[in-house]
Amino acid sequence: MRKNIIVTGGAGYIGSHTVVELAAQGYTPIIIDNFCNSEKAVIKRIEAITGEKTQVFEGNCTDKQFMTDVFAHTNPVGVIHFAAYKAVGESVNKPLDYYYNNVVSLLVLLEVMKETHCNQLVFSSSCTVYGTPEKLPVTEQSPTQKAISPYGNTKQIAEDIIKDQVVAHSGLSAVALRYFNPIGAHPSSLIGELPLGIPSNLVPFVTQTAAGWRKELTIFGNNYNTPDGTNIRDYIHVVDLAKAHVKTLEYLNGKNNFYDYINVGTGKGTSVLEVVNTFEKVSGQKLNYKIGARRAGDVEQIYASVDKSKDVLNWKTALTVEDALRDAWNWQKTLPKP
Ligand code: WQD
Repeated sequence: MRKNIIVTGGAGYIGSHTVVELAAQGYTPIIIDNFCNSEKAVIKRIEAITGEKTQVFEGNCTDKQFMTDVFAHTNPVGVIHFAAYKAVGESVNKPLDYYYNNVVSLLVLLEVMKETHCNQLVFSSSCTVYGTPEKLPVTEQSPTQKAISPYGNTKQIAEDIIKDQVVAHSGLSAVALRYFNPIGAHPSSLIGELPLGIPSNLVPFVTQTAAGWRKELTIFGNNYNTPDGTNIRDYIHVVDLAKAHVKTLEYLNGKNNFYDYINVGTGKGTSVLEVVNTFEKVSGQKLNYKIGARRAGDVEQIYASVDKSKDVLNWKTALTVEDALRDAWNWQKTLPKP
C-alpha cells in the first residue's frame, strides 16, 4: 500500500527534488504550494521525471480550512514541511511577513496533523541555527546561537514549537533536518533552482553570470582567516539532500512521541574561490568576478559533522560539489534569458 506524504512547498527548489525521490521510493507525494516562490510549470517537469501524475493543492499553509480539507481528502501518513520564506536579507526588512508566514504556517500544520492523527513530520531547518560555530565541524551538540536574522529566528522558533508539541504527548514524531548549503539541480535538467530576481545565494549567481544574465560575480571578501581568504561552506547536492528526507521518513517509522534534529551536509568545507574555480573547470568557461567588501552577517566558515546522519539515517552524500556545479550549469543553460 503506497503511503501518502504531504510535501508543503513541494513545487520549490528542495521540495520538487524531494517529491521526485519520494516517488522513486514508492511513496505517493502530494504537493501543497501557493506558488509564491515557485512556478506551476515545475509540476509537469516533476511528472516527466517520475512518470506519474502528482496531486497538487494550491493554497496557503496558514489557511486552516484549506489545510484541513487537504488532509481529510488525502489522509497522509506523514508531512515534509518546506513551505517558508527563506531570504535572509529580505527577512531583516520584512520581519512580520517572515514571522507570520513561517511560524503561523507551522502552527496550523501541527494543529491539523493532531486533529487528523497524522503523526510523522520532517521539518526543513537550517545550519543557520548554529550562528558562528566555535568549533568545526559542527555537530548536533554544537551550541545554537541567537539567530542574527528574523529568517534564522523563525527556524529556531519552529524547532522549539515542534519539540514542545512532541513533549505534549500529541502522538507526533518529528525530525528537524538542519541543511547546510543546497546547490545543484536534477541531472535531467528538468528541475532546478529558480531564484526570483537577483539571487542572494552564490551558486545561482555564478551560473547566471556565466550565462550572461549578470555582469560579474562579487566575491564578498577575501580577507577572512581561511586558506584562500574566502568564506567556507558545506555545499550539498540538492539530490543528495532530497534523498536524506526519504531516509528520514524511514527513520521515523514506528516511532512515537519522538523528536530529533540532524545535520544534513557533506562533512567537507569548500571556499567561495574553490566553487568559482571548480565551476570554471566543469563549465569550461572563465567566470567574470571581482573581490568586494564583506557581506554583513556572513559566517567565516561552517561545515557539518555527518556522523549522526550516517549513523541514524544510514545515509551519506554520494555526489560532489563538482557534480552539483555541473548539474547547476546544465540546468542554467536550459533557462530562457529574462
Ligand atoms: C555562500 C557564500 C557568501 C553570493 C544562506 C542562508 C542559509 C541557507 C543557504 C536557507 C558566502 C558568498 C554569496 C555572492 C558571494 N538558506 N557569496 N557572492 O549565506 O551560506 O546561506 O543560504 O536555508 O540559511 O543563510 O549562502 O549562497 O548566500 O553564500 O561571495 O554573490 O558565498 O559571502 O560566503 P549562505 P550564500
